[in-house]
Amino acid sequence: MNLQKVYANALKNKFALGAFNFVNMESLKGILDAAQEQNTPVICAVSESAFEYMGFEFLKNLITSARNTYTVPFFIHLDHGKSLEFCKKAINCGFDSVMIDGSHLPLEQNIALTKSVCDYAHKFGVQVEGELGKLKGVEDNISSDEQLFTDPIEAKQFVEQTKVDSLAIAIGTSHGVNKFSGEAKIRIDILEEIEKVLPNTPLVLHGASSVPQNILAKLIELGADLKKAKGVPEEILTEVSTKHNVVKINVDSDLRMATTLAVRKYLKENPKEIDVRKYLGQAKKDISNLVKNKIINVFKTKEIK
Ligand code: G3H
Ligand code: 13P
Ligand code: ZN
Repeated sequence: MNLQKVYANALKNKFALGAFNFVNMESLKGILDAAQEQNTPVICAVSESAFEYMGFEFLKNLITSARNTYTVPFFIHLDHGKSLEFCKKAINCGFDSVMIDGSHLPLEQNIALTKSVCDYAHKFGVQVEGELGKLKGVEDNISSDEQLFTDPIEAKQFVEQTKVDSLAIAIGTSHGVNKFSGEAKIRIDILEEIEKVLPNTPLVLHGASSVPQNILAKLIELGADLKKAKGVPEEILTEVSTKHNVVKINVDSDLRMATTLAVRKYLKENPKEIDVRKYLGQAKKDISNLVKNKIINVFKTKEIK
């Protein structure tokens, strides 16, 4: 099973795959346990900093171990690759898919960089995700709203000239847990304009953590300073998964919250415990439950037949 076929299936049958970030063995197993139990494909994402944190050799062998352990189709993806060199490193490490994030560059330079990655990656059968438009948060501290959104006309030019396999768009989401100060505003109208000019392009939504209220409330109760946290409402994520061409939805912060809550809660309830496996084991289970809920109830990921 390759990712291109899974995206085509998702476009046709209107569902999305979750792309969940992992940083260690526990988070990778938590994600894969959920996918295996549901028999649904999943994307396991690695940021450049997570790549460096795990290290090339350890990560490569972690991927091999996962491939030898799980039978469900899963795809290892580089999240927010910044250069052709890093994308090459990820491909050497056994990745199925890379994102080249040139969204901070002027259009022509973003096109040139993304095309160079496509030309290279496609020779190895590796999928490439490009990005157009800017999200607030990790990518840049941009305060003006209007200029953040993806321009549909530029999107068409970008996809045609680069030959990217999927396109990350900016329609109002942002990275991290503080996404909205008031009501959540997602520009479905811009998404529709993009779909009109690019009806067959798999689209990707970054910054899509929902910041679950139950996890947030418990974290705050246990001392976390996250009072301003607000995520993307789950109904919006279901809408873009089932009524639109969004086939990949990126979630990192929710997994971080679930992990931090598991550790805080376990140690609060078991103050004498020093066995790392106890609380990281709990974190793995909680990640798995969170991922399962997203897959089944939110992204409506279809089973593999
Ligand atoms: O999009 C960004 C991801 O949340 C990864 O962040 O570089 O801190 O691992 P990171
Ligand atoms: P969140 O911070 O909303 O989880 O976004 C994750 C993401 O877009 C990773 O690329
Ligand atoms: Zn992202």
